[in-house]
Amino acid sequence: MREAIEIVQVGKKAKDLSFRFNNTEGFIVPLVSDQIQQVFVNILINSVDAVLEMKENFPDMRGEILAETYIEGSSLIVELSDNGDGISEDKHAKIFEPFYTTKAVGKGTGLGLWVSYGIVKSFQGDIKVTSKPGRGTSFKISLPLNPIY
Ligand SMILES: Nc1ncnc2c1ncn2[C@@H]1O[C@H](COP(=O)(O)OP(=O)(O)OP(=O)(O)O)[C@@H](O)[C@H]1O
Ligand SMILES: [Mg+2]
Repeated sequence: MREAIEIVQVGKKAKDLSFRFNNTEGFIVPLVSDQIQQVFVNILINSVDAVLEMKENFPDMRGEILAETYIEGSSLIVELSDNGDGISEDKHAKIFEPFYTTKAVGKGTGLGLWVSYGIVKSFQGDIKVTSKPGRGTSFKISLPLNPIY
C-alpha cells in the first residue's frame, strides 16, 4: 500500500491532496504482491481523478484519500476512501464491468476496476463500493487470511 501511494503521488497531479494510511501488522495474507499493488494503484488513481473532478467546481476543497486497514472476522479489510465527486447508486454495479468509463476519450479505458475485481476474486476476496454523488466514495476490499484452494 505504501508503494502504491507513492506511485500514485508521483505519477498523478496529486500534490495538493492528502493521503492517509494506517497499517495493520502481525497478519499474513496469501497474495501476489505485484497484483494487489495494481489493485491499490487502480483504485487510488480513480480517487485522485474523482477528487480533481470535484475540485473543478470547488477549487478550495481539501482533497483527502484514506487507506484504512483492519481485521474483520477472518479477513483483512482494506478500505480506500475519497471525498471526490462520487458515483450514483444506479452505476454501482456498472463500474466493475469492462470498458465502462465516464472519463474523457483517451483518459480512461474502463478496465481498472474490472481488472481489480478479477485479481481480488482470484485471492477469494471481494470488493464492495459505497458512494454518494457529491459526497465521496469508499471501496471495501476484503481478503481472507486463510483462503481455501
Ligand atoms: N473513486 C471514484 N469516484 C468516482 N467515480 C469513480 C471512482 N472509481 C471509479 N469511478 C467510476 O467508475 C468508472 C470505471 O472505473 P475504472 O477504473 O474501471 O475505469 P476508468 O478509471 O474510467 O479507466 P481506467 O481505469 O481503465 O484508466 C470511472 O470511469 C468512474 O466513472
Ligand atoms: Mg480507473
